[in-house]
Parts: sequence; C-alpha cells; structure tokens
Amino acid sequence: MSASNNKHIILIGPMGAGKSTVGSIMAHKLGLSFYDVDSELEKRCGVSVNLIFEIEKEKGFRLRETQMLKDLMLKSPAIIATGGGIIVTDKNLEMIKQCQCDVIYLKTDVKQQLYRLRKDKKRPLLQFSDRKQRLIKMAEIRNPLYGSIATITVRTGHQSAHKMAMTIIKHYL
Ligand code: S3P
Repeated sequence: MSASNNKHIILIGPMGAGKSTVGSIMAHKLGLSFYDVDSELEKRCGVSVNLIFEIEKEKGFRLRETQMLKDLMLKSPAIIATGGGIIVTDKNLEMIKQCQCDVIYLKTDVKQQLYRLRKDKKRPLLQFSDRKQRLIKMAEIRNPLYGSIATITVRTGHQSAHKMAMTIIKHYL
C-alpha cells in the first residue's frame, strides 16, 4: 500500500475508539499524510472543538465539520481520522460513499468507551452525568450508519493502538 493507491483511508467509529491514534500510526507506517478532522478544525478556527460547540452549538460545528471533510478529501491520498459524529450528517455519508475511499470502522462498545473516556473532560457531548445512557443512545443510532459505509470493520478490544494499526495495515500488504 502506498500513496499511489490513490484513495484516502478514512477512519470512522465512536468517541474513544482510537481513530486518531491508530490513524497516525498507520500514516507513519504507510508513509502517508495524516489528518484528523477535529484537529484540523481547531487549527483553522484557532479554538477548541469544545468552544465551537459552546459558541455555535452542535449545528455550527457540524457545518464546519462537513466543510473540513470536503477540504481534506480534495488533498492527495491520506489517512483521515473523523469525529464520531461524522455520520450524523447525510452530506458526509454521501461524500464518503462517493469517494470510493477505504473506510475503516473501529467498532467498539459502550463499556470500552466508558473506560477509555473516563478521564475525558473535553468532549462536549460527554459533559453530562448520564454519560452511559448517552453513549448507549448514540450507539443505537450511529452504529448502523458506521456499518453502512464501512469497507473494513475492525473490532477494538484490549489490543494496543499499535497492534490495531498493524492489523489494519495487513489488509494493504
Ligand atoms: C463527536 C466526536 C468528537 C468530536 C465532537 C463530536 C461526536 O470526536 O468530533 O466532540 O459527535 O461523536 P472523537 O470521535 O474523535 O471524540
């Protein structure tokens, strides 16, 4: 697998699945550029995702997220890690389906999410006391959507991000 493969590799999945970490390891190993939609948005806006949510609410964030996805997809083939909510916007689903990219779904469960995100104080959609219920609800709505655009599904378990990245890379060797 190399940049000459000519398509992006897009990582999707819920919060805490490890998309950014796995994506950056993969990019390093495959010699591709790596972009994280949220980080790129923070660079562009000069403020945190959290603050974008605070000022513009989720609606404003989603518009910016769609524009960023569009811009990143115009770049040379790269690894793109998306935010967990990328699939809630129809336009994003369409864009991802149309681009014929490889779409890697890091499938995880609420128990693992709760563990991995236990110290998180940044994610705007988790700043509530009923975290578990919210994650369950999101999983119900979102998991079928991730599944509907995935070309490769990898179940996240106890293995390290490095191991997960290597498992995915095998698909390209
Ligand atoms: C979101 C996930 C976050 C970030 C934003 C919204 C979501 O990204 O885009 O807080 O709707 O699930 P991560 O999946 O990287 O945490």
